[in-house]
Amino acid sequence: MELFLDTAELDEIVKYRDFIDGVTTNPSIMSKYKLSDHGSLIKEICKVVSGHVSVEVISQKYDDMVKEGRRISKICDNVCVKLPCTSDGLRACKTLSIKGIPTNLTLCFSSIQALLAAKCGATYVSPFLGRLDDNGHDGMLLVEEIVEIFDAQGYETKVLSASVRNLQHVIQSARVGASAITISPQIFGQCLQHHLTTLGLERFSEDFQKSK
Ligand code: G3P
Repeated sequence: MELFLDTAELDEIVKYRDFIDGVTTNPSIMSKYKLSDHGSLIKEICKVVSGHVSVEVISQKYDDMVKEGRRISKICDNVCVKLPCTSDGLRACKTLSIKGIPTNLTLCFSSIQALLAAKCGATYVSPFLGRLDDNGHDGMLLVEEIVEIFDAQGYETKVLSASVRNLQHVIQSARVGASAITISPQIFGQCLQHHLTTLGLERFSEDFQKSK
């Protein structure tokens, strides 16, 4: 399972670089950096991780998305162009995929959108678990359904669990066979610690000191 960090914060990416395969960003994440051009920040991120760095287009019309996607893909070899699961986004995905440009189809809320993304040659499709849960649905069921459909149809598009809100989302995504997941630095911090491990280590250390 590929692990991505959902951030553009360089310090956090460096902190978790030994555990992650790549990075995902979105316009909300990038908006925190008041830069006229985010290209230099993306280049820095691409130097830290060897796997895919997803960068989302801002355009919403097919022609503009293709143009912007091609420009984004030239920033670095490991950039993956993130496109929304709209009609224009899916068409742009098909065009960019034919040119060999990796794509990540985002804002996926249904298995039909995922199926279309796979048919358009997407490298990844990102179902948004947390936002579905927030709206009274079960995000994990969608991930499970997409994995089942891709397996049944033999699609190579990878299911990337996104909008991850808790450790159960991480565990369940792995269990149902998601190929990838993107996690915020905050959730990643939680993944790396367990209170019983901390407590156990303290006790081992105390016992060992007493024996001296
Ligand atoms: O980057 C896409 C996704 O992970 C965003 O999640 O928490 O804004 O719903 P969230």
